[in-house]
Amino acid sequence: MSPPAVLVVGGSGYIAQFLVHHFAQSGCQVGLCYHSTLPPSLPKNVTAFKVDLVSGAGLAEALTALTAGGRPLTAVINCAAISQPAACERDPAAAEAINVPTKLLDALEQWWAARQVAAAAARGGGGEQQPAAQGAQQQQQTGQQQQAEQQQQQQQQQQQQQQQQHGKKLGLAKLLSRISAGAAGLVHHHQANGSSSGADANGGGRSSGTGGMRGFSSGGPRDRNGATGGSRGLGSGRYGTSGPRLGGGADGGGGGSLGGGTGGEQPPLLIQFSTDQVYDGSKQRWREDDECRPVNAYGRSKLKAEQAVAARWPNHAILRSSIIYGPDPPLAPVGRTLFLQFIDSVLQDQRPTPFYVDEFRSPVRVRDIVRVVQTLIFRQGELKHRLFNMGGPDRLSRADMALAVAEAHGHSPACIQSVPAASVGRRGAGGVAVVSPADISMDSSRLEQELHLPLTPFKTALEHIFKAHDHHDHQ
Ligand SMILES: NC(=O)c1ccc[n+]([C@@H]2O[C@H](COP(=O)([O-])OP(=O)(O)OC[C@H]3O[C@@H](n4cnc5c(N)ncnc54)[C@H](OP(=O)(O)O)[C@@H]3O)[C@@H](O)[C@H]2O)c1
Repeated sequence: MSPPAVLVVGGSGYIAQFLVHHFAQSGCQVGLCYHSTLPPSLPKNVTAFKVDLVSGAGLAEALTALTAGGRPLTAVINCAAISQPAACERDPAAAEAINVPTKLLDALEQWWAARQVAAAAARGGGGEQQPAAQGAQQQQQTGQQQQAEQQQQQQQQQQQQQQQQHGKKLGLAKLLSRISAGAAGLVHHHQANGSSSGADANGGGRSSGTGGMRGFSSGGPRDRNGATGGSRGLGSGRYGTSGPRLGGGADGGGGGSLGGGTGGEQPPLLIQFSTDQVYDGSKQRWREDDECRPVNAYGRSKLKAEQAVAARWPNHAILRSSIIYGPDPPLAPVGRTLFLQFIDSVLQDQRPTPFYVDEFRSPVRVRDIVRVVQTLIFRQGELKHRLFNMGGPDRLSRADMALAVAEAHGHSPACIQSVPAASVGRRGAGGVAVVSPADISMDSSRLEQELHLPLTPFKTALEHIFKAHDHHDHQ
């Protein structure tokens, strides 16, 4: 069987590059969808597709080309967004057109329906049989299939245990391939349970320039810890032969069946990157069940995106990310200064810079996100929830973060000006006022518990990043 495919939409962006690199290294065929920036060189098993989420141009072609010859598609990861709050505030309609993936969902539904029709046609091509003989044969086949599936499941469980014991990532592509192909016959219930980093010191917007962090190299991701998820108890499900029944609930509701046919292939997991800015900032440690009342256009567009994904593609996972930090991206610089790199350069040059003391976030490490995504894909058949906060374990102000960087990288903290947010006018380009939620620190224990993945404390990650020569973020 050909190695499975993963499609990364917004693949030229920061976190997406780590994902593309990781899955390419793992032996998957990766589709990288970009809009304006094609990274100059790509790993050999990565194919680039130019797409536009606003018009939908290129999406159908990307899906069809990536899955040609029946290649299974394991996941679609949507990282594309206009995520600068100021840009969203300036033109909310334009932001919504990109941030709410309506055209991506259209393309996915159409591709999946066509796939199911093709699969049914292929199965129906075996000639004519008498109904009774057909029934008996089907029964026999079902029995054999069930036996094979049980054996396959046992093998998969053993394989996963071995992998976990040895901490290796061997066979990732193979495991993903099995997940994509689906262990047909097992009934599975899909539950639809269900800050922007900013380039300035405080996340008010993103400036241009690639930053580039001193002391970092930007090698590609290496997964030292291997396949953390495993394919334990592969869900599976039977998916319809006559197109997807993709109606489904939002955060707390049942997503409904994905079809009851005998197709055997399951629809890919759609992973939608969202944001902590769906919360209004009026309390600490937000949980997924808390009411969302976004205070700016960015947060509103991302909340709508979550609702669209949950309503239309039951096999989804939504990740509400906090500020993402890590080394330079592995494929190409992104057109803005990165969060950690900005703080480090300010400290290195000792440029006096204001950092807010009264806006709290739960910054999350790139390496952790790669593991989260990988594990979600492995466990897509057994997810209890579909909506996850994805922030590190800390509740930190930007002043706290700057002080932690100074300490970890041996800089003087003298240039850090600890100020309240109200003391600095927060305006993006064009003078548009941007409201920023005060406290959107998150409780991400649902994610940690369901995926068995502890998220790294900020200081620990900085120790790894600044002090270890061979640190773990280049997985
Ligand atoms: N970075 C953070 O700290 C952070 C924090 C919270 C949440 N998030 C969320 O995490 C996700 C990834 O963030 P990121 O910072 O890694 O992203 P990013 O670097 O800003 O990349 C954005 C991506 O969106 C693509 N894009 C823009 N317009 C498009 C269009 N019309 N059609 C198709 N693609 C388009 C860009 O493609 P081109 O470059 O080719 O134009 C780029 O690949 C986003 O959903 C963001 O909201 C990020």
